Amino acid sequence: AGAGALRADLTGRRVVVSAGGTREPLDPVRYLGNRSSGRQGWALARVAAGRGAEVTLVAANVDLPAPFGVRVVPVGTAEELRAAVLAEAGSGGGVTADVVVMTAAVADFRPATVAATKLKKDSASEPAAVPLVRNPDVLAELVTKRAPGQLVVGFAAETGDEAGDVLAHARAKLARKGCDLLVVNDVSGGGVFGRPDNAAVVLAADGSATEIPHGTKDAVAAAVWQTVLPRLP
Ligand code: CTP
Ligand code: CA
Repeated sequence: AGAGALRADLTGRRVVVSAGGTREPLDPVRYLGNRSSGRQGWALARVAAGRGAEVTLVAANVDLPAPFGVRVVPVGTAEELRAAVLAEAGSGGGVTADVVVMTAAVADFRPATVAATKLKKDSASEPAAVPLVRNPDVLAELVTKRAPGQLVVGFAAETGDEAGDVLAHARAKLARKGCDLLVVNDVSGGGVFGRPDNAAVVLAADGSATEIPHGTKDAVAAAVWQTVLPRLP
């Protein structure tokens, strides 16, 4: 199809996209969080719906209106996101999604305890360290529980460091997570977060790498679906 042509190549497909960033409460008014705006996941959901898919967006603290034709399930914490994504993916049985795309920035750790009342600074001593515990790895769990033929797509924002470049880190992560595709953003230069544009490389479990040129998050979303499509059963 040419540019602007109507495509309905995801018709009949059930798609689950997670987006945004989880917030892990410290007390009733404070949380540990991250800068993910949810824009790339939002674009993936919107573009998939526009191409005919039945789309559920599990949105962690996303401050954007629901994309047209997309069902939004709002969540706050990593635990809430886990429950919603596994349920929508059909990991516990029932109707299963054809594709699950994890763009959400899931907090790796959460405060070990959540204070029932607001923490006060009124003690004379210095503030105590905040003990953290590890959150569940939703992507890894999706992979172990996935329905036959279900495609699981991860996202990773990486920087190069002394241990390896962006793609080396990404290939190791793809192998560690066991997902089918990993969409990699190089964030070495600074801001991708909250920006309207993006660029990426899609790594596949079969070893292939597809470069997605710099463009709007809608254009990146369309390109991601192009790499997903031929892998759908
Ligand atoms: N992810 C997840 N659950 C977590 C952490 C991450 O499902 N607890 C998913 C993200 O949604 C993303 C992918 O895993 O699709 C990669 O996230 P990333 O933070 O890059 O991976 P980590 O394994 O947490 O590695 P790192 O130590 O680099 O943060
Ligand atoms: Ca992480």
